[in-house]
Amino acid sequence: MDKDLKKQTKSKDRVRKHGEVFTAEREVKAMCDLVKDETERIDSRFLEPACGDGNFLAEILSRKLAVVRKKYGRSHPDYEKNAVLAASSIYGVDILQDNVLACRERMFSIWDREYTAVCRKDCSEQTREAVRFIFSRNIVCGNALTLMCVDEQGADTKEPIVFSEWAFITGCQMQRCDYTFAELLAEEDPKAAKQQNFLEPPAEEGHFLKRYVSHYKRVQEHDEDRN
Ligand SMILES: C[S@@+](CC[C@H](N)C(=O)[O-])C[C@H]1O[C@@H](n2cnc3c(N)ncnc32)[C@H](O)[C@@H]1O
Repeated sequence: MDKDLKKQTKSKDRVRKHGEVFTAEREVKAMCDLVKDETERIDSRFLEPACGDGNFLAEILSRKLAVVRKKYGRSHPDYEKNAVLAASSIYGVDILQDNVLACRERMFSIWDREYTAVCRKDCSEQTREAVRFIFSRNIVCGNALTLMCVDEQGADTKEPIVFSEWAFITGCQMQRCDYTFAELLAEEDPKAAKQQNFLEPPAEEGHFLKRYVSHYKRVQEHDEDRN
């Protein structure tokens, strides 16, 4: 097998079953450059429905964090809050659990490397835990075609994929609203959702499953099952 292709694949079986071929760094950067302004906006939301171990998501996070450092690096409280916001805006789905776990870990280590370098002695373990929690909710093990969560074998479960929308409301208070993936798609394009029988378009905009508000360092206190 060609050397570069070998780096981009794990096994023939995974390529055959899941189309798993990782995108090379050069292409990732070039594609992100196509939407450069968005990748550099701290709160712009990105979702990759077949994220693998996070080649695109990692690049987007690095770009956003570079902007946070440039804008807020001199004030540790402002840096911390905006770095949490950057982390909370990035989402991924993959059908393979090992990819999802690797992706969450990779995202956290990029985030934590920057956080530690900027905030040094002002770093807080509680904030690190909050960011780990955000990645555990935002990077989901699921089937992006059926919009359902999957088990360790990649088979659909009865649980729909649910994403949390994070937003700062006042000061350090962060709001989390949970929506099913199906509902988010229906809001995006009600006609397409109806044609595909995902669900009826929502009766009113902003219909969510659950809403939580807490200090951004304590978002993990609203913890439920998430593998
Ligand atoms: C071509 S790879 C791309 C990975 C990554 N986006 C990249 O560019 O490096 C496709 C990924 O989609 C995942 N995948 C395949 N079918 C899927 C599905 N129905 N739902 C979610 N993920 C899926 C595979 O596990 C694999 O990681």
